Amino acid sequence: MAIRITNLLLMFAALLKSVLNETPLDKCCIVDMSHTLDTDSIRFPTDPEFIFTILTRGIEPEGFWLELNKFETPEHIGTHMDAPSHFARDRWRVHEIPAQRLVGAGVVVDVRNKVKRNPDYRLSVSDLRKWEMLYGRIPDGAIVFMWSGWDVRYPNKTSTFNSNTPEDIRTWHFPGFHPSAMSWLVQNRNISMIGVDTPSVDYAQTSVYDVHQIMCNASIMGLENVNNLAKIPPSRSLIVALPVKLRDGSGGPVRIISIFCDTDKSKYC
Ligand SMILES: *[C@@H]1O[C@H](CO)[C@@H](O)[C@H](O)[C@H]1NC(C)=O
Ligand SMILES: *[C@@H]1O[C@H](CO)[C@@H](O)[C@H](O)[C@H]1NC(C)=O
Ligand SMILES: *[C@@H]1O[C@H](CO)[C@@H](O)[C@H](O)[C@H]1NC(C)=O
Repeated sequence: MAIRITNLLLMFAALLKSVLNETPLDKCCIVDMSHTLDTDSIRFPTDPEFIFTILTRGIEPEGFWLELNKFETPEHIGTHMDAPSHFARDRWRVHEIPAQRLVGAGVVVDVRNKVKRNPDYRLSVSDLRKWEMLYGRIPDGAIVFMWSGWDVRYPNKTSTFNSNTPEDIRTWHFPGFHPSAMSWLVQNRNISMIGVDTPSVDYAQTSVYDVHQIMCNASIMGLENVNNLAKIPPSRSLIVALPVKLRDGSGGPVRIISIFCDTDKSKYC
């Protein structure tokens, strides 16, 4: 308990100092955890495609340069957030999620070895307990990530969905959270979000999306297709995950960054 509070205080003190310029911000790492949104972005095969249209790109009659585009996109595409309303009635839609819930301490649970042996692996309660044995209790407001190593496959559909027929969802094989781990987090810890480097918080072979159901019912947000978990420390980073503030959205593209200071910078950035 004492260790947990000290760690968090140290983390925020370092951040504050940076902002106040006592410590130069170049002593901190700021890591981008979103994939770029474009026509190759991973999406559900039944969702409409992402469309980017150039409206203006050139020199105007008055002599200045002008670029204007429009984009059309499904909500659940690329690196995106699931709002609680996605799988639970009367829960927050994107624009209603309090800003306080969009920032939290990063918890990175490494399941790469288990996933190597079994692409249908589901992150378990014992994986969470193992993380806590190493780094202390999962802090209030945490953002708990499954690190499977899947982000290097993105946006190759064959390898991301791990199937030679990626248009057929029944053939998909990728890891996610186990519903019992999700329930354990809801009942025993006080977290704001979970995140995965795969397309779904539920593993690919699910038919009922129970992790989505438990997560959303508990007003916990989900982050999917997260990038660069190898580039942030397993604990003590500050995560900021800001979705587009779409009225009544069930989710939306999200820019996620991780900020950490006073670490061995060379190891990460
Ligand atoms: C859960 O954590 C938040 C901070 O993220 C805090 O405001 C709230 O009081 C906590 N709730 C409980 C029941 O401890
Ligand atoms: C996508 O991944 C598959 C399976 O690993 C591989 O055979 C294919 O060459 C990759 N495609 C591209 C464009 O990299
Ligand atoms: C949904 O959450 C409520 C508390 O807000 C809880 O009482 C109920 O058991 C949950 N239902 C499911 C299906 O998880």
